[in-house]
Amino acid sequence: MDRNLTLNLVRVTEAAALQSARYLGRGDKTKADEAAVRGMRRMFDTLTIDGVVVIGEGEMDEAPMLYIGEQIGKAGEGCLKVDIAVDPLDGTTAVAKGLAGAISVVAIAPRGCLLNAPDMYMEKIAVGPKGVGRVSLDYPVETNLKNLSEALNKDISDITVTMLDRPRHKGLIQRVREAGARIKLFQDGDVAQAIATCFEDSGVDILIGIGGAPEGVLAAAALKCLGGEIQGRLYPTKEEEKERCRAMGLNQLDSILTMDHMVKGNEIIFAATGVSNGELLKGVVYYENNRAKTYSVVMRGETGTIRFIEAIHRLDKKPEYAK
Ligand code: FBP
Repeated sequence: MDRNLTLNLVRVTEAAALQSARYLGRGDKTKADEAAVRGMRRMFDTLTIDGVVVIGEGEMDEAPMLYIGEQIGKAGEGCLKVDIAVDPLDGTTAVAKGLAGAISVVAIAPRGCLLNAPDMYMEKIAVGPKGVGRVSLDYPVETNLKNLSEALNKDISDITVTMLDRPRHKGLIQRVREAGARIKLFQDGDVAQAIATCFEDSGVDILIGIGGAPEGVLAAAALKCLGGEIQGRLYPTKEEEKERCRAMGLNQLDSILTMDHMVKGNEIIFAATGVSNGELLKGVVYYENNRAKTYSVVMRGETGTIRFIEAIHRLDKKPEYAK
């Protein structure tokens, strides 16, 4: 895939972050999300790609922009045909409440390579490169912790599990505590936390628990570039969700979705920009004279290059940044 797309994808998440960060702490998650979508959509319009959204803001009748199936980019002859997965704002509640950990995310891969995951829950387990092949959603959590402790050559009591702070995780939290590991609970944004398992300095070693399925595919795109591993298993909570899975051809609900099921091949580009401060990326900082700073990461699966990009923007100079 054209490597020059890498920087263009950062522009897309930067635009979304710059728009949505204006809503930090303003108590309105819908407006924060709409702003992110608007910023992302405008910037996508400037790209010369033939893209189709496979993970987006919902079905066509539910979302005005970045809906599943939407055509993206200035498609021309010979243009690259790609699948696009977006989460313009992963952490809508975090932004509304002025809390940490919200990011804007996008991944692209050649057409047909990204799983169109239904908008429902997914059980997840994610680890960095040293834990690859050592953990499984089919193993009890105690076994996963023991195997990871061997792979990382550190005691279970030095392993930190990161998990969404949700009542549904009460039993899992209990078991992790009994196994002796540390737990870091977070309020929102499990894509960033899955990525964090691949960075030793992040202080987290393994992500477990139930989060959104679309976010699982986005995390899979990132972890493929980073050499980590994530497994998912769809977690429908209603009969209607099970039917939706079947209609999408996802019949084996009990089976594990590996990274290759979620993201085929390694021709992937993944980009993320911080909206509110997080361990992986700082949030948007607005400066005097209509300027702002963003912190982003962009990765390519083919080469494994990871770039952290700090950018200063002149908000009055680009129509995409207009409020
Ligand atoms: P939104 O930005 O769509 O609210 O998602 C935030 C998030 O924390 C995701 O990162 C996570 O996968 C999902 O919500 C978990 O869902 P729930 O809030 O229902 O537990």
